[in-house]
Amino acid sequence: MKRVYNFSAGPSMLPEAVLRRAADEMLDYKGCGQSVMEMSHRSGEYEGIICSAENLLREVMEIPCNYKVLFLQGGASSQFAMIPLNLMNKHHKADFVLTGQWATKAWKEAARYGEGNVVASSKDKTFTYIPELDPGTFSKDADYFHICLNNTIYGTVYHELPQTGDVPLVADVSSCILSEPIDVSKFGLLYAGAQKNMGPAGLTVVIVRDDLIGNAMDFTPTMLNYKTHADNGSMFNTPPCYSIYICMLVLDWLKNTVGGLSEMEKINRKKAGLLYDFLDSSRLFRGTVVPKDRSLMNVPFVTGDTALDAKFVSEAAAEGFVNLKGHRTVGGMRASIYNAMPVEGVEKLVAFMKDFERKNA
Ligand SMILES: Cc1ncc(COP(=O)(O)O)c(C=O)c1O
Repeated sequence: MKRVYNFSAGPSMLPEAVLRRAADEMLDYKGCGQSVMEMSHRSGEYEGIICSAENLLREVMEIPCNYKVLFLQGGASSQFAMIPLNLMNKHHKADFVLTGQWATKAWKEAARYGEGNVVASSKDKTFTYIPELDPGTFSKDADYFHICLNNTIYGTVYHELPQTGDVPLVADVSSCILSEPIDVSKFGLLYAGAQKNMGPAGLTVVIVRDDLIGNAMDFTPTMLNYKTHADNGSMFNTPPCYSIYICMLVLDWLKNTVGGLSEMEKINRKKAGLLYDFLDSSRLFRGTVVPKDRSLMNVPFVTGDTALDAKFVSEAAAEGFVNLKGHRTVGGMRASIYNAMPVEGVEKLVAFMKDFERKNA
């Protein structure tokens, strides 16, 4: 068996230890004679799994007790509608910062339900930076303020949060959740599709402050109301059982093997540092993001020559470094180096890039 280094933006690599444990438990979960895939979500065994997943997430992220953790479906994209349906309930207005395609989709969807006010955008330079924010321009009467904390496609991240006062800050953390500690108490709501740092696709995690639940618009479908899921422990209907189980194994790995989010951050800084240091000294490759706004998770880069970019992507794939092609709207390359990418994978990629540079620069 030869496993590749997968630099996909998501779904992406899972820790090998997690895959091995899932394989061991595949046919017979803890002696109950069934796979987790086959199990009733109302069984005692499954109750144990979903409770452990929630408890581990609370522990690892230090989630305060006045926040609910919801295990949902529909991807982060469903949250683009669920958030306004549940939160745009007083002034029917929210503020948005447009830092890329996902942030823009969140804004467009919310604007179907109320006023979507754009306070800043970095579209003028293909979203290669995080715009400066002036709190004087924020709406005092917004029901929430939305950001995409880490911009998967463009490789930018906020290093400072907007100061929104009493207006709840809502963040899409799909591509940075669990990569480093995050102060949950600064947010009204956090949401993430699981398929990057948490587990397989099919699971969407929402962490929401209690006071933001229970005031959804009248016409909100039952399944899109946070209260439905909060009142039923994410078991109003069948949850994405297997994805939650793998998420539980990932969280267990994060806590017990890695040693928690501060340790994870050190490893992620080391990996990103290796790549950015090389890009900054390279004669052939360059990073596309303003250095101060660089992401730890997604690293876009180019040679400046599209034919050479394509040659790089194809030669890299032949050597076992897969999914390095940049997003179709940006071009070039992008290395997504989520938690499960080992340091060794980045070291080997950098060595390959050096060799490619020697032959092609
Ligand atoms: C930051 C961000 N938000 C939202 C999405 C959409 O997620 P989903 O496919 O789970 O709807 C993605 C997908 O890559 C993403 O990276």
